[in-house]
Amino acid sequence: MTSASRIPATLIPGDGIGPEITEAATSVLDALGKPFEWDVQQGGMAGIQNGGDPLPPSLIESVRRTKLALKGPLTTPVGGGFRSVNVRLREEFGLFANLRPVKTMVPGGRYEDIDLVLVRENIEGLYVAFEHYIAIGDDPHAVAISSGINTRAEARRIIRFAFEYALSHGRKKVTVVHKANVLKALTGLFLEAGREVSKEYEGRVVMDDRIVDACAMQLVMNPWQFDVIVTTNLFGDILSDQMSGLVGGLGMAPGANIGDSAAIFEAVHGSAPDIAGKGVANPLALILAAGLMLRHVGKADLAARLQNAVEQVLQVDNIRTGDLGGKASTRDFAAAIVKRLA
Ligand code: NAI
Ligand code: MG
Repeated sequence: MTSASRIPATLIPGDGIGPEITEAATSVLDALGKPFEWDVQQGGMAGIQNGGDPLPPSLIESVRRTKLALKGPLTTPVGGGFRSVNVRLREEFGLFANLRPVKTMVPGGRYEDIDLVLVRENIEGLYVAFEHYIAIGDDPHAVAISSGINTRAEARRIIRFAFEYALSHGRKKVTVVHKANVLKALTGLFLEAGREVSKEYEGRVVMDDRIVDACAMQLVMNPWQFDVIVTTNLFGDILSDQMSGLVGGLGMAPGANIGDSAAIFEAVHGSAPDIAGKGVANPLALILAAGLMLRHVGKADLAARLQNAVEQVLQVDNIRTGDLGGKASTRDFAAAIVKRLA
């Protein structure tokens, strides 16, 4: 690809294993002919070290300009400290849809032939984090209160997104996951929107629904009964980690955050501080996220080549990182994909 035809995109290496897996992903994209012209930006802890800000204005300006980013995981302090930069980015750019496909690529795992897509509502629910404490006596944290927000407009939009995705990807069923038996307003509204929107797709895509706890059990007992799952923010966060476990774990699960004016592609997993800097992280989730990014910009041919190379490396060359029972380092694994692309 000539530099003039490259697509401008923001690259956020991120924290922990972020720089290692980002290097792996960009080496694979280089082997596909460098489709993107990167503007590298620091965020999260790296942003703090760089200039004192976990979400620097230059990062925001870059994504506003390119409307497209590949992002490594960003560390968020637990409990106190700054608010999740991931959540803030999703809010800032209105990235309302979080698309998380899981697919069996390594045979001989716990389950064969898994091919599911989770669509998670990405900017509402309990993740608006309207939280506070009430002090009692000398305990400033005696009571914790959190309010969730779901709007009918957003519920309709994300459910329509799931049905449109099903239609355009030849999928047959959308399952709306909720807890409308207990959170009757917050998630009852979501189920109501599901029933309403599904009428527009009658005869084309089937709709059913599950209560989230039963859904979690059924995903373990018989995951093949599902096709596309659409759910609220917190449930989607939890179920997508669970679903990655069906196909080998977090190292296998890519995610796309999609809005009307921008899209950010990332792994489902976090910065994995326990293995950071050791060169052993599985870069596949971010590499598969780059595949979703290629499809998003209309380069389905490159995405298909990438998918094919990944499957050859896993299934024919038998090269895998430690989390998948192999011995390859992050770099070796990426190099094996690059070799398959040559
Ligand atoms: P995590 O996903 O980073 O790690 C969970 C476990 O999975 C760890 O044992 C880790 O070693 C392993 N793991 C994760 N990715 C792996 C990979 N590519 N290859 C091999 N093993 C892998 O979750 P954790 O530890 O709860 O969170 C760490 C930090 O990441 C936190 O600060 C959290 O807020 C942040 N985070 C950021 C996300 C993002 O940027 N989108 C998403 C999730 C968490
Ligand atoms: Mg998560």
